[in-house]
Amino acid sequence: MKLNIATLCFLFITLISCSKGEESTDNGQQVMKAHSYRPFYHYSPAKNWMNDPNGMVYFDGQYHLFYQYYPNGTTWGPMHWAHAVSSDLFTWEDKGIKLYPDDLGYIFSGSAVVDKNNTAGFKNNANDPLVAIFTHHQNITGKQVQSLAYSTDKGQNWIKYDQNPVIKNPGINDFRDPKVIWNSKTQKWVMVLAALDKIKIYSSPNLKEWTFESDFGQNQGDHRGVWECPDLFPMKDQNGVEKWVMIVSIGGGESAGPNGGSSTQYFIGDFNGKEFVSSQTEVLWADLGTDNYAGVTWSDIPSVDGRRIFLGWMSNWVYANSTPTDGWRGEMTVPREIKLVEANGKHTLYFPPVKEINNLKGTQLSSSSAVAQKDFSLENNGTIASGSYMVDFEIDLSIANQFEFSIGNSLEKLSLSYQKSTGEFILNRGKSGIVDFSNLFSKPLRCPYNPKSTALPVKILVDKSSIEVFINNGEQTITSLFFPKFQYSYLKIISSAENKYLKSITISPLKKSIIR
Ligand code: FRU
Repeated sequence: MKLNIATLCFLFITLISCSKGEESTDNGQQVMKAHSYRPFYHYSPAKNWMNDPNGMVYFDGQYHLFYQYYPNGTTWGPMHWAHAVSSDLFTWEDKGIKLYPDDLGYIFSGSAVVDKNNTAGFKNNANDPLVAIFTHHQNITGKQVQSLAYSTDKGQNWIKYDQNPVIKNPGINDFRDPKVIWNSKTQKWVMVLAALDKIKIYSSPNLKEWTFESDFGQNQGDHRGVWECPDLFPMKDQNGVEKWVMIVSIGGGESAGPNGGSSTQYFIGDFNGKEFVSSQTEVLWADLGTDNYAGVTWSDIPSVDGRRIFLGWMSNWVYANSTPTDGWRGEMTVPREIKLVEANGKHTLYFPPVKEINNLKGTQLSSSSAVAQKDFSLENNGTIASGSYMVDFEIDLSIANQFEFSIGNSLEKLSLSYQKSTGEFILNRGKSGIVDFSNLFSKPLRCPYNPKSTALPVKILVDKSSIEVFINNGEQTITSLFFPKFQYSYLKIISSAENKYLKSITISPLKKSIIR
């Protein structure tokens, strides 16, 4: 081929746009390549498959995150624990695989704690030992048992306990996902463990010998799927009243959960060291979207900080193995700070994003207005095209009976609407891009919400292939994946209201915090 200047220019421009993961089409739309779905500030594996967050523990200035990982492919396979660390919850450094499958089986989900009093006796130098408590899944028999591994070098190297398992299988196939906490009142470790349709509670003086204490939940909560990945911890409400929170993930088919498939419920009650009791009658969901599963909280966050921080896997078992990413699959939600809120004698949890998200904002605002206005629109906007940003707005519900927030391009649209008459948010991703890999994916997500006042603040986090909606400071959240075929370029808020219902809006680009 004879190269002239025009050909060289064309090749150069093509090279530049392809290296950014995009290419131009005739009608000027930017085509998304699968790697453009790679999030900027949500943890995703450099390559291959990831599911649940595991072993989340804070130690010596670092948040440790382990996760279910299959290193030989982009669909679920024999599970390992891979590891990442961060000092700010957004800048994650990969540390490789720390637990490999062995004769006892695959390494399924579990937790980790700092054994400050050396109760298990693993200490062999000045460092406090870290102890991981996880499920061994025996792949031939399908039986699951609970095992330990420990690290005496701040989480760098892990040794499996030579007398595993520490809890044998009592004849229940689904018997997994141990989450352990230190109960300072009883001076004992407490384990919650999912067993098919209930949570089993155990206690131990030393992490090695466990005593069964009680069962919770067989006749409570939602049972449209197998119970998995529990968590249990105390929290204080805004008046200083202490309650205990039990989180339970539920695996389920298309008709389970608030909007289908995998979902997470929680219970608020009391715990006396042996039994968890909740008088709650309604089902409370940690998230009304379809893409927040197997979430649990970090252990050992220092009391000067005092936060209870939650992280979920941002996918759904109904379609997790077929989302259209390339070379990697699976990402986490943003870390969320759980708050216990009492209103009219009733306790619920709020899940706002951790404050560290604000450090990603930098100084540049894409658009901001503190003055009330009617509709709002940004077209051909660089921040929207970048795909990673935060939107904060407040709607005056005494003026607007309904509104719709949307992002998209001339062919695709993702919308979030609210209607006072139905008391429902609807997230519609049916025309958001690639949706045909699952029936569930194109269904609208219906999210009942009863506003606390006429001022309705909404925070939205968008990151390439995900949207997280935080209604009224996390009182309700909606988490959803989406996969545009073409780059989005606009953001709009519209309403049939005739007066200025949009009290304020700020759109801030968010920086890339994870190098991939
Ligand atoms: C939840 C789960 C856990 C299990 C793990 C296996 O998503 O099913 O119950 O330990 O994933 O990867």
